[in-house]
Amino acid sequence: MDYQTTLETVSQQVLSEPTRGKVASYIPELSKVSAAKFGFHLTTVAGEDYCVGDSGERFSIQSISKVFLLTRAIQEVGPDLAERVGVEPSGNLFDSLVQLEYEDGIPRNPFINAGALVVCDLLLSVLRHPKQDFLDFVRRLSNCETIEYDPAVIASELALSHRNRAILYMLKGYGSIKNEAEEVLDFYVTACALAMSCRELSHAFGIFANGGRLLHNGKSVLCQRRVKRINAIMLTCGQYDEAGEFAFRVGLVAKSGVGGGIAAVYPGKYAVTVWSPPLNPKGNSDAGFRALELLTDRTGASIF
Ligand code: DON
Repeated sequence: MDYQTTLETVSQQVLSEPTRGKVASYIPELSKVSAAKFGFHLTTVAGEDYCVGDSGERFSIQSISKVFLLTRAIQEVGPDLAERVGVEPSGNLFDSLVQLEYEDGIPRNPFINAGALVVCDLLLSVLRHPKQDFLDFVRRLSNCETIEYDPAVIASELALSHRNRAILYMLKGYGSIKNEAEEVLDFYVTACALAMSCRELSHAFGIFANGGRLLHNGKSVLCQRRVKRINAIMLTCGQYDEAGEFAFRVGLVAKSGVGGGIAAVYPGKYAVTVWSPPLNPKGNSDAGFRALELLTDRTGASIF
């Protein structure tokens, strides 16, 4: 498979189409990023890299971080996680509160904000230095020691986290959050503010394509059964209330973030990340979605 030519052809087509969507501005720092950025990076399970455009430039990974948070929590607490957060698609926007009340404070899944906040609460209870531990974990997955949190994005989101605070206090009312709400928010917002490039994300997501083994040294981070489960949640919940449309048009396992990134996986074959900041109304990268659709169309291969 000539992935380099495919990525180039797909990129040309996507960039020739009219730009749709809006760069996220509810986190003011994110609105400073140029709408014209476009990066695309594919890494095969054999460790071959193919890239186009701004694939080496770091951006705010935002909700893509929820996959790393879930992975770290599964490593630490295993099956106990199932009592605190579900695995069903929510059919609502990522920051919705509506289901929490009639479902007694058990978030539908770990990728909506409510679920990720519960995962952060769990990690805060078991890790001695949660922020450093989590950073070290993501650095290990991507084999890159220079990955950092972006302090400007953290400050920008913390100042305006009204909805996440509302979710947290609602969850606390149900006893679903054990630590201080502000402490949980701080850890969650920090984790979302990881700055990574398409290249680094594709390398880190390699474990989900490679049966839980790191691409660079083959060491196992997760067993196959856990990889299966995390990939299943990405498929059904990774793009929020657009997960069905994404499976229908793209046919890859993936997670999006409001920074405009989408990290996707074809188990057994490759991990691929695309970055384009303008978002569609569901909060997913419009051009990123389109690029992945064209990738699976042109290669003639998707998980289905
Ligand atoms: O909590 C928030 O709103 C952000 N830190 C993350 C949201 C996000 O990336 C949703 N993804 N499309």
